[in-house]
Amino acid sequence: MKALVLAGGSGSRLRPITHTFAKQLVPVANKPILFYGLEALRDAGITDVGMVVGDTAPMIEAAVGDGSGFGLNVTYIRQAQPLGLAHAVLIAREYLGDDDFVMYLGDNFIIGGITPLVEEFRAGRPDAQIMLTRVADPRQFGVAELDQTGEVARLEEKPRQPKSDLALVGVYMFTAGVHEAVRHLTPSWRGELEITEAIQRLIDDGRKVRSTVVTGYWKDTGNVTDMLEVNRMVLESLEPRVQGTVDDATELIGRVAIEGGAEVRSSRIVGPAVIGEGTRVSGSYVGPFTSVAQECAITDSEIEYSILLRGASISGVRRIEASLIGHDVEVTRSPRVPEAHRLILGDNSKVQITP
Ligand code: G1P
Repeated sequence: MKALVLAGGSGSRLRPITHTFAKQLVPVANKPILFYGLEALRDAGITDVGMVVGDTAPMIEAAVGDGSGFGLNVTYIRQAQPLGLAHAVLIAREYLGDDDFVMYLGDNFIIGGITPLVEEFRAGRPDAQIMLTRVADPRQFGVAELDQTGEVARLEEKPRQPKSDLALVGVYMFTAGVHEAVRHLTPSWRGELEITEAIQRLIDDGRKVRSTVVTGYWKDTGNVTDMLEVNRMVLESLEPRVQGTVDDATELIGRVAIEGGAEVRSSRIVGPAVIGEGTRVSGSYVGPFTSVAQECAITDSEIEYSILLRGASISGVRRIEASLIGHDVEVTRSPRVPEAHRLILGDNSKVQITP
């Protein structure tokens, strides 16, 4: 069994971070979201991974390499334009051959991995196996309608009037039968070849499509709110450790990880929280559910429930909450006069200011 991991796409809901950065590489508890998926595949006994990449290919390749660091054998498949999930299957036809495969969307986060699902698929080998989960706003997803016996009757991609609140999770399992279904698709209203429509075709052709409804299992990390929530969940099981230096005037409370080369002085860190390699924290409060990446600086500030990317610095600001702060971003206090906000913000930035 192989895997097809989708690591292209533009990440429009995570702008401006994704103007310069692949959405699958945004870190959760200081590890790129994509890495959790790769580890889940390896844990399920899969080693051959076809990685579908787009414009951000160089960044993904630099981070994942040939996959040996994960115990995987990664082959890159270039998708010249983001023409849809089924298009990714189409261009991976040669790589996949007639093997069964898991298609895994690189920005999806599956809590607890996918091993039981892969085992279930291997045992029964239906033509397709999908996962469904209840969501608040199904219009943003592929939506399934089940019949009285619980079988999938109909699937619709981003319906305006959803027939249920069961959304398709971004992990699918297929036998080689899907290739025939994909070949006959035409672009949807959003100009993409939809995997949802390919699965509908399998149903129409009387093929076996099995679904499992899962709870508390999954996050599509396409937006900041979900990203922060996934970060919270992962930090809940953080291994406390102190590898960097922490002075006597500092208080560490709960699950806190201080990575090697990090330096914490006269601060209060309330876990779960992780402070990355080479980061300096002084005279500050870092509150629960905060991931501070490598080489950051937090000085005379307060921050919680947030993610800081590599090289970000915060000085003299209190308090920051529920924020995603990009690479090398500087947040500082403005001088006393004039009393004004001074902003240099990239395209699509979002700022909320207290009066
Ligand atoms: C894709 C699928 C959709 C599925 C979702 C899960 O949406 O098309 O059916 O529910 O992933 O993350 P997209 O990310 O293309 O908007």
